[in-house]
Amino acid sequence: MSERPTSRLSGFYNQTLRERLATVAAWAELSDADLAALRAGLSVEQADRMVENALGLFALPLGLGANFLVNGRNYLVPMVVEEPSVIAAVSNAARLARAGGGFAAGSSEPVMIGQVQLLDVPDPERAAQAVLAAQQQLAALIDPLHPSILRAGGGLRGVEVRQLPDTPVGPMTIVHLLLDCRDAMGANAVNSAAEVAAPLLESLTGGRARLRILSNLSDRRLAWATCRIPVSVFAGGDLEAVEVARGVAEANAFAWADPYRAATHNKGIMNGIDPVAIATGNDWRALEAGAHAYAARDGQYRALTDWRVVTDGDEPALAGRIELPLAVGIVGGATRVHPAAQVALKILGVASARELAELMAAVGLAQNLSALRALATEGIQSGHMALHARHVALAAGAPDELVEQVAARLRAEGQIRAARAAEIVAELTGHLS
Ligand code: MEV
Repeated sequence: MSERPTSRLSGFYNQTLRERLATVAAWAELSDADLAALRAGLSVEQADRMVENALGLFALPLGLGANFLVNGRNYLVPMVVEEPSVIAAVSNAARLARAGGGFAAGSSEPVMIGQVQLLDVPDPERAAQAVLAAQQQLAALIDPLHPSILRAGGGLRGVEVRQLPDTPVGPMTIVHLLLDCRDAMGANAVNSAAEVAAPLLESLTGGRARLRILSNLSDRRLAWATCRIPVSVFAGGDLEAVEVARGVAEANAFAWADPYRAATHNKGIMNGIDPVAIATGNDWRALEAGAHAYAARDGQYRALTDWRVVTDGDEPALAGRIELPLAVGIVGGATRVHPAAQVALKILGVASARELAELMAAVGLAQNLSALRALATEGIQSGHMALHARHVALAAGAPDELVEQVAARLRAEGQIRAARAAEIVAELTGHLS
């Protein structure tokens, strides 16, 4: 893995768009063609080949999450998202986490689950034994389907049988094919594995195969991240630093205990994860499905993160952890087709799908920290209002160098209105009517 400059970019926010592109280009050694791809994104012709009935393109902002240090490696994180504050918030939390050495992240092997539904199985117990004994036979059918996955060291890793004795249409036997997809997300590979295996499974069980499809509850393909942040980094606001850390832990406990809060809490986590999925051409609906199903794995829908105040030597620290299924790829699918996704991967510099998943887990944890910190202290509206004031100032024609000043006046006066912004702009630029 090549050494990279620090991802701690102070003042990046204040650079012009052109300067930011130059900073990233130097940092990630982007070529002119890469920069052009970032600007142009997808062409209409490419879109026409990707989906049916294509009409055109729909653009979203692509920004950069800064300051990430994960497993000792610096990352800049391309994020595609329409919601203001997300990128600023995640960058800020990543900066705080650096005080505790950044994030430590890990992942399981990239094993996906393909499901085959079998009905009218005469003897489920015997059927299960027959299926489990046929793993070699199944591998002989499935592994040749995707030579690139096999070459990369993937392939069928196991077979499991689950009985669902009591469904609205009677009992059914479900076979899980566990397929290591290496650097592919693997949806196509898993679906074709399930389809090719179904006739053999029918003859082994005497049943009738119906659905043959991957499961988005990809709980064999998990990623996790942790951080441990000295509470002193939370000093400086209205509250004592340790009180801020305790507020984060209390907020987390709320989401652990209450599904109504957990849904919002986990939405905030996905505010970080989805934008990276989109930027890299990954299927964010699959990630959403997996994350929320995993959040309910013990029967109650809960927070995907855990935050607690721990005593680390003399100084207390805020310790955070996240774990969730992250079925992402760095080859194939939209990742291969979308030119900007290729550049996003180049900026990330990840060598494997597992490394991408680990980074995304850290991004989710960081996003959650910034949300909980704001919610447990001043609330999130003041940050949103600051941004809103900047937008109103810009819309009122404030020149770049005066945007902050106009926004600050609007906030101080407590009225963020276009007409007032226009008056302030006129006053500051000397264009009084
Ligand atoms: C808003 O998009 C996300 C938050 O609601 C997340 C949360 O409440 O934890 C701020």
